[in-house]
Amino acid sequence: MTAAKRAPQPGAEDLTEHLRDRWSVSVFDPAHELADGEIRLLLEAARWAPSAGNSQPWSFLVLPRGSAGHQTFVTHLSRGNSGWVPRASAVFVAIAQVAEDPDGNGPKWADYSFYDLGQAAAHLTVQAASLGLSSHQFAGFDHGAVAAAFGVPDWWKVMTGIAVGLHGDPAQVDPRDAEREERERVRRPLEEIAYADTWGTPWA
Ligand SMILES: Cc1cc2nc3c(=O)[nH]c(=O)nc-3n(C[C@H](O)[C@H](O)[C@H](O)COP(=O)(O)O)c2cc1C
Repeated sequence: MTAAKRAPQPGAEDLTEHLRDRWSVSVFDPAHELADGEIRLLLEAARWAPSAGNSQPWSFLVLPRGSAGHQTFVTHLSRGNSGWVPRASAVFVAIAQVAEDPDGNGPKWADYSFYDLGQAAAHLTVQAASLGLSSHQFAGFDHGAVAAAFGVPDWWKVMTGIAVGLHGDPAQVDPRDAEREERERVRRPLEEIAYADTWGTPWA
């Protein structure tokens, strides 16, 4: 399978185009840069996501490639992510508020903070797709070191990075990173995730 054929997958053919065509790219064009307007639009997509009680318990570190923050962040990547993440045009580090700040301000619905942040992240990735950009979310980095390096307060929890950029040429990267794009994309069948009447009884 070539990278270009990784989407759509069986069952996804009729999804709305930006969901249908999304997949986690591991080969980014290292020369591509995001315009400030594009970064702003991606953040607006996250900002306008729904959240429990409209608590909006999310923040993002915005790290365009070449920025001081980006240079710091990439030193904390896991080995497996250290090859492909730095080539993306930008990394957005997604952070959830999980407790009140010292003044007692915090999400009224903290139990849902991770849910809300994940939804904001998903909106960002769909907006990226609509701009012709690729994205790849990742958890493989030293979360504690990143929180310390960027001064993230204790009542916020660093969750993931979202690498965004233009899909690049697999021939230009380390074969191990190119190989990532050849891995089969699989999903659990609908019968295992959608139930009717009682738990475990497949819907339809
Ligand atoms: C919370 C989260 C953490 C992830 N962590 C990593 C990671 O550290 N490295 C990586 O290469 N991919 C990571 N991924 C990407 C998943 O492996 C990928 O989304 C999954 O295999 C499905 O592939 P697809 O996005 O192409 O459909 C992560 C995705 C999510 C949502």
